Order: sequence, then structure tokens, then C-alpha cells
Amino acid sequence: MHIPTPPANVVAWLPDRRGIRVLDQRALPLAETYVDVQTLDELVHAIRTLTVRGAPAIGVAAAMGVAGVYAHERAPGRARLAAIAHAVAEARPTAVNLRWAITRLLDRAAQAPDDELVHALAHEAQCIHGEDVAMCVAIGEAGAALLHPGMCVLTHCNAGALATAGIGTALAPVYVAHARGVPLTVYADETRPLLQGARLTAWELQRAGIPVTVLPDGAAASLLARGVIDAVFVGADRIAANGDTANKVGTYPLALAARAHGVPFHVCAPWSTVDVATRDGAAIEIEQRHRDELAFAGDRRVLPDGVPVYNPAFDVTPRALVTHYITDRGVVTPPFLL
Ligand code: MRU
Repeated sequence: MHIPTPPANVVAWLPDRRGIRVLDQRALPLAETYVDVQTLDELVHAIRTLTVRGAPAIGVAAAMGVAGVYAHERAPGRARLAAIAHAVAEARPTAVNLRWAITRLLDRAAQAPDDELVHALAHEAQCIHGEDVAMCVAIGEAGAALLHPGMCVLTHCNAGALATAGIGTALAPVYVAHARGVPLTVYADETRPLLQGARLTAWELQRAGIPVTVLPDGAAASLLARGVIDAVFVGADRIAANGDTANKVGTYPLALAARAHGVPFHVCAPWSTVDVATRDGAAIEIEQRHRDELAFAGDRRVLPDGVPVYNPAFDVTPRALVTHYITDRGVVTPPFLL
């Protein structure tokens, strides 16, 4: 089968693997620009500012980034590697892929002799990148079985190619079905406040020639009520051992509305997003983001001075609202097996 190529190179090595080059997702859809990352500060900044974002892409960028930053270090050593890894792992709290990737890198480093450390880190990071590409295809093939000609799919945030090293998670089934000639339409929530749906999902689907319509988040329930949507596909930042799922804020109300209107609600994620150490959704740390993300629309202030905000980046959808988990190990139906 022809697997579509991702619309952009989200994370790549710099020459000699002494750093990485990431697509600057803050600039989309207006400009396709890239940022070079060679220092620890640059790497943490790229992850915190959502220059690179999306759980799997954060994991890949963290792995390649730590390897690249370490290779670029003037005073390398295992203590410095541990400090770099710790700082990067703390950059964002919710997506478990970040810590998963860093742990893998450190486990590999522990087995490598000192004079092979740089090479071992780069090799492991490259493996994580390659596995991510393959996991996306596996999710796409598993999920495409649920898609039929003429279906309308609703998605939230961006869980597409821009959020991974490959063809995405929630959008992977769409890409695979599209490559097989199955006509589909995607409805994308704009995803307040950072507009990943409008800026990123619409950008990559339009590039791929897949029909996409953007709606305000608040219109999703009425669209579901009208019977326009056949299935909801979303990604995940962390799936707890019991199946509760953290994803971009606004996912939980979407799941409630889908349930109320009898529409299947699917969570698509690689197994690296499943966190067996987190018992349930209540134990997932939810990132709180800066006031300015709500206080400004572009350069214009839209909030009176002094008004506080509640700005969680993610919410938790209880497992009872999930129809299927579509993973690189196949389709898992609740109750979750762990
Ligand atoms: O804050 P972001 O843009 O990193 O949030 C991304 C999401 O919530 C995605 O839906 C999730 O990471 C899955 S990406 C395949």
C-alpha cells in the first residue's frame, strides 16, 4: 500500500547529529520555517513554547534533542547528560512520551562505554524516530478499518503528522483510508486558545488534498446533534492504566457530546502513550499555561486587566466514554486491559 509522506519534516538532525532542526509550528499556517536547536536552553524553550508539540513529536524531539545537545556540549560527561535529561523531561508535564523517550535514552546510555556515549545516544534517538514513523502507520491501518466511503470524521487539536514523526495518530487512519481511495471529510475543532485545529490540522489536511472544514469548539455538540458526524477521532497525551485519557482541553466535552448523540469516540495513540505507572485520570498532572494565551488574540488584549484565568492545556476523558483505543498493537475495546 502507498503510505502518504508527512507534509513536513517535523524533527530532523543537524549535520553530524550535533543538534536538531524542528519545524516552527508557531509560525503555521503563515510560514514554513525551521528552528535549529543545539543547546539545552534552546531545546527546553522549543518544547515549552510549542515550537514542536504533540505527544509523540515531543518524545522524538526530546530524544534526538538530548542526543544532539549532548554531542554539541563543550564539557560532556555523565553528570552533564543526567542534568540535560532531567531538564528536558521537566519541560512539559502531561505528555508521557516525553519522559518515556528520555528514560529509554538514559537506559541505553547506562549500557554504553564512555567513549561510545555520543554514538549510542544518537542511535537510540534514531530508533525512537523510526519506531514512531512505524507506529503511526500501524495506527493508521488499524483505524482505517473503521472508515467507509463518504464518512465525516470530527477531530480535536492536531494529532496529525505535525504531532509525530510520521503520519500522525488520530489522522493516521484518515491518511491511510485516503491513500486507498476512500473519500472522507474531516471536521476540525479550531481548538481554543492556541488554535492547533485551525492552524495545523487544517494546514496539513489541505496540503494532503483531504477535504477539511474548521468549526469553533463550541459548535461541535450541535454538529454532532445534527447527525453530520459518523465518528470522532482524537489523539492522547497520556492514557492511564485504567484507560482514562488526557488530551487537549476540549476533548472531554467532545466525548460527552458524542456519547449523548450516539457517535463513536475513538482515542488513537501509540503504546508509548500508555502509562502503566499512572493508575487513573485523577493522577495525571495537567499542565496549566500562561494567562496571556487567553488574555490576547494575536497582538490585541481581549481580557480586562486583573481578571484571573483558568487555562489548563489538557483535560481527562473517562474511559467509559471511549468506544475504541486505536493503537499500534491493534484496536483495544474497553475495559482497558492493564
Ligand atoms: O499542547 P499540544 O499542542 O502539544 O497538545 C497536543 C495534543 O493534545 C494532541 O492531541 C496529543 O498530543 C496527541 S498528538 C498525536
